[in-house]
Amino acid sequence: MQRTSRQGVADIFFANLKRRSGRAAIALLAGALATAAAWAAELSVPYVPTPQEVVERMLEMAKVSRSDYLIDLGSGDGRIVVSAAQKYGTRGFGVDLNPVRIAEANANALQAGVSDKVAFYQRDLFDTDLSQATVITMYLLPNVNLELRPRVLDLKPGTRIVSHDFSMGDWKPDNKVQMEVRDKYGGPGGQSDIYFWVVPAKVAGTWQWQLPVSGKSQAYEVSLDQRFQEISGTVKVGGRSVKLLNPKMRGDQIGFSFTAEVNGAPLKHEFSGKVEDDAIAGRVVLSGSRLQSQLDWNAKRTAAKSAAVDKRR
Ligand SMILES: C[S@@+](CC[C@H](N)C(=O)[O-])C[C@H]1O[C@@H](n2cnc3c(N)ncnc32)[C@H](O)[C@@H]1O
Repeated sequence: MQRTSRQGVADIFFANLKRRSGRAAIALLAGALATAAAWAAELSVPYVPTPQEVVERMLEMAKVSRSDYLIDLGSGDGRIVVSAAQKYGTRGFGVDLNPVRIAEANANALQAGVSDKVAFYQRDLFDTDLSQATVITMYLLPNVNLELRPRVLDLKPGTRIVSHDFSMGDWKPDNKVQMEVRDKYGGPGGQSDIYFWVVPAKVAGTWQWQLPVSGKSQAYEVSLDQRFQEISGTVKVGGRSVKLLNPKMRGDQIGFSFTAEVNGAPLKHEFSGKVEDDAIAGRVVLSGSRLQSQLDWNAKRTAAKSAAVDKRR
């Protein structure tokens, strides 16, 4: 991993904040940098807290619940992890390189009565095991988000990611909101952007299955291309190729439709299913002039395309 110097980090954050709000942010940043220490040389981002109303919105967007496990990368005073535990009963942890922030976060957890649900570790976010997470939150920087992106995309499909203010480059968010925030940067206010993604399953490749249509077994072969959560492809059925319509991926859920001639008549197919590695299990709705039915759908991947999701790193 390429590390930026503390001054370099400050310059990047400074530039990003300046674009957003001006003097209040600059004053806060100056304060953050005044407390230089050995660990500070490793900082990827200085401390700027997410306003509480943005924290609440981030948790709502991710629909956190008591069955989630939330990890905040660069957790500051622990407000995101503590708020999720207090409001929704969510377990989780935060990591931060700054020991002062870790002490504040532990004190805040104690005061909120959620110390049994959450923990805070003085640790580099790049050395943190993310595999336990069902939700990851962050308020970092564009280049840090991009550096994290390949690891995030390798997490379990369905893992939700929420980022305050900064995107993940060309990985389009599944949802994005903008809000005016009164106490942004502890002062005159400004705008906050919240980005939300769901880690998509990796589905690129060739998939095959059979369906019993009007008493005859019919073979299907679909070839899927994928870029993040966006998929496209064609299906071969009865010796013809047809483009997939409305292809959709959300986490491990996949869906698409097409109309193809089967047994001499046009038949509309609407598929929806759950991806697990090289298998999809779900349902298909068939509708044609001679046939209306619903069947189980079980597909197997017979060839993977090299992938798919993030070739950049
Ligand atoms: C912009 S603040 C966000 C704090 C908190 N997540 C929030 O939203 O209120 C970024 C935090 O990341 C921490 N940080 C910066 N680089 C880090 C790294 N490499 N590993 C862990 N924490 C880091 C900083 O100390 C700071 O507290």
